[in-house]
Amino acid sequence: MIDSLFSLPEVPNLSKDLWIVANFKSNKNIQQALEWLGYVGPELRKSLVKVVVCPTFVCLPEIKKAVLVAGFPILVGAQDISRFDVGAYTGEVAGKLISEFVDFVLVGHSERRQNFQETDQVIAEKITQAKNSQIKPLLCVQNENTAVPDSVEIVAYEPIFAIGTGHPDTAGNANKVAGLLKKDRPVQVLYGGSVHSKNVEEFLVQDNIDGILLGRASLDPEEFLKIVKIANSLK
Ligand code: PGA
Repeated sequence: MIDSLFSLPEVPNLSKDLWIVANFKSNKNIQQALEWLGYVGPELRKSLVKVVVCPTFVCLPEIKKAVLVAGFPILVGAQDISRFDVGAYTGEVAGKLISEFVDFVLVGHSERRQNFQETDQVIAEKITQAKNSQIKPLLCVQNENTAVPDSVEIVAYEPIFAIGTGHPDTAGNANKVAGLLKKDRPVQVLYGGSVHSKNVEEFLVQDNIDGILLGRASLDPEEFLKIVKIANSLK
């Protein structure tokens, strides 16, 4: 284990809330997700940063149970939600069926827009379902022009060129887009796309960036904790 992960810095310099969100995508079975949680969870006890883990649907009940039993300060999110309510929708998972396990749901991720032809209309319906199920939607947008429904309180700016490519946006441009997203509405804005422990600080120190949505770098619990540690050192 990593020693004194969250010893507080002498001069905290960021007063805003910071979020670190792990998106496992279609990775980790139940056993692997629980192992990740068993490694990460105990290290979060003194974390000042808000941490969310989004495993696959099949992991949600076990992960939620493990979080509750151990009392880990970690929120749980789903990676998707049906655009429909409960009913005759084969293969779908309605918000009301997962609301007991999750606080958040990712909506509008570019991998869903690209691979599953999700449009702004479908995404708006999913946001409605999330709200009706008391789940907070975390809306992913690809630029400042993506439609953001009024009910959304947290957004992740994720430019397509940066997702899983090893080529993040510049922190300056991400900050600029985050600022534009905040101009017309009171939202928190995360940045996502090729963030890891070596570049995370550049993004977190930007005025308009309230956290990070991590894909690949979230899978390795040690790398993930390094990132959370850096975020905590900025609080
Ligand atoms: P990445 O993915 O960190 O692997 O680039 C981010 C995301 O898709 O949310």
